[in-house]
Amino acid sequence: QGNGLALTPPMGWNTWNKFGCNVSETLIKQAADSMVSNGMRDAGYEYIVIDDCWQVGRDKDGNILPDPVRFPSGMKALGDYIHSKGLKFGIYSDGGSLTCGKRPGSLGHEYQDARKYAEWGVDYLKYDWCSTYDQNAKATYENISDALRATGRPIVLSICEWGLHKPWEWGKNVGNLWRTTDDIYDHWQGIRTFEHGVMDILDLQVGLEIYAGPGHWNDPDMLEVGNGKMSFEEYKSHFSLWAILAAPLMAGNDLANMSEETKFILTNKEVIAIDQDALGIQGKRVFKNGDLEVWARPLKGGGRAVVLLNRSLKTQAITVDWEMLNLPEQLSMKVRDLWQKKNLAKAKGSFTADVVSHGVVMLRLDL
Ligand code: DGJ
Repeated sequence: QGNGLALTPPMGWNTWNKFGCNVSETLIKQAADSMVSNGMRDAGYEYIVIDDCWQVGRDKDGNILPDPVRFPSGMKALGDYIHSKGLKFGIYSDGGSLTCGKRPGSLGHEYQDARKYAEWGVDYLKYDWCSTYDQNAKATYENISDALRATGRPIVLSICEWGLHKPWEWGKNVGNLWRTTDDIYDHWQGIRTFEHGVMDILDLQVGLEIYAGPGHWNDPDMLEVGNGKMSFEEYKSHFSLWAILAAPLMAGNDLANMSEETKFILTNKEVIAIDQDALGIQGKRVFKNGDLEVWARPLKGGGRAVVLLNRSLKTQAITVDWEMLNLPEQLSMKVRDLWQKKNLAKAKGSFTADVVSHGVVMLRLDL
């Protein structure tokens, strides 16, 4: 995107995965407060995004109306509150006539809505794809992108058309991130085909790495960490893989009621630093043998981030060979385990670790 925003993948929190349509000003303020008190803001989380269902209609002039019961103080006041906490304000709309929650979409009101968002102090717009019928996807997103630009306010644009029209091929100059799949669910592996688990989403990212870079990211959907249906190991794997993928890190859990384990995962600064690496090169799968995989990405300064992933049901050893990383075999590398948070012995040519079922070992290798 030419807006100069999101030079590293956006980080924040979004209401949808945990709260669905149950959004309100109380919930949003509480999330902003929590993000400050639980250390997430200091760890890099920034955007507080209200997803679907905040809007109830339009006035006689066509202005979008927030739910007056759920948002009694109005959106400008809410934006001010979020900004007063040192955070940024995100909102949601849809390129069709209705949002997925059957609220008014922005079709035909793009410039009017964009001006309203700018008035409210909005910094981020997620733009969905329900009720779009035979609309052209690229043109729809270009339209809102132009409308946002016309406001003069820097606003990140999150393209959410679920990967239907290969947004990775045209999204770069239109938005700052684009969803690559339909919705994620709080499962390791999907129970039904349209309910993608973390592993299903992961498989769908293979090959897309070439399209990402500073200002324009693949979005494998928001995090489910802490939502309760996966284990601690599975959530660690989810978070580690999203970091290797240079994915936007949008927490999707209840920030006001978070376990120590969830906080431990979401605020691991060394894993976040991998996600936010300044080179902005999305990682990829460099090895696969059945349920055992190695994912890696190059880092600024010549190092590598590596995830050893065990999708099987028992503990198994996984080896990363320097050849998989395009490094010379005789090279000696420093090895740091990012979840144990400790330096291991230097390694030459390869490194092997036992990885528990559905778990990862995440490493940072440096010269
Ligand atoms: C579909 C999107 O993919 C979800 O992330 C969420 O925004 C819902 N729509 C809201 O209705």
